[in-house]
Amino acid sequence: MIDLHCHLLPAFDDGARDWTETLEMCQLAIGAGVKIIVATPHWREVKRHGSQRMYQLVAELNQRLQQLDWPLEIKPGCEAMLSPELPAAWRQGKLPGLNGGERLLLELPWDYLGHNWLEQIYQLQLAGASLAIAHPERTPALACDWSKIQRLAELEAGFQITAGSLLGAFGTEAEKIAWRVLKQDWPVAVAGDAHDASYYVMARAYEMVKGKLGQAKAEAAFIFVPRSWLGGADAS
Ligand SMILES: [Fe+2]
Repeated sequence: MIDLHCHLLPAFDDGARDWTETLEMCQLAIGAGVKIIVATPHWREVKRHGSQRMYQLVAELNQRLQQLDWPLEIKPGCEAMLSPELPAAWRQGKLPGLNGGERLLLELPWDYLGHNWLEQIYQLQLAGASLAIAHPERTPALACDWSKIQRLAELEAGFQITAGSLLGAFGTEAEKIAWRVLKQDWPVAVAGDAHDASYYVMARAYEMVKGKLGQAKAEAAFIFVPRSWLGGADAS
């Protein structure tokens, strides 16, 4: 399994508080059968600390995992909130895609998308970014308007559903939309979006998807789609 949305870098954003919690999160992921985690701190924090600091922490975490002989690899990335500054940052190589590739994990504003949100999406695509829309089922402005989710799919955006949503952890509305998105014939990845070691349900979500939609769909959402978004030969 690949978890392509995780706030596990220590004391970097609103995720893991310290190295102890980072390693606890890694342990939970390994227990769930995850082989690769993409560290996706919020981009505003990547800007604040500097992207070099993010890459350093990913390298240090990989070193620690190797020393512990834990079967888990961490890749760099970020989760960016849609804003007019993103296309230029992407062009300048300042905005890290998943595993440094062309797929950007993009969060949309929660309550009001803004009048020109589609224009901002086009501009990002024109700048060369492929998009993975983070947890549409938990973004009220999308979750309450299916036509907006459809519009994003027409623009060939992919979607990242949060594992907990499928289990009802974020309410029945989010649960309903999460399953509805997953059932479409679109590229959809399920990821943890864990911020601490209190709740990690990738394994339970995998079993539930397998039970309801079949093994092929589960493998697509937890392995093959995320792998295709990481790009590169090392994203196995
Ligand atoms: Fe997140």
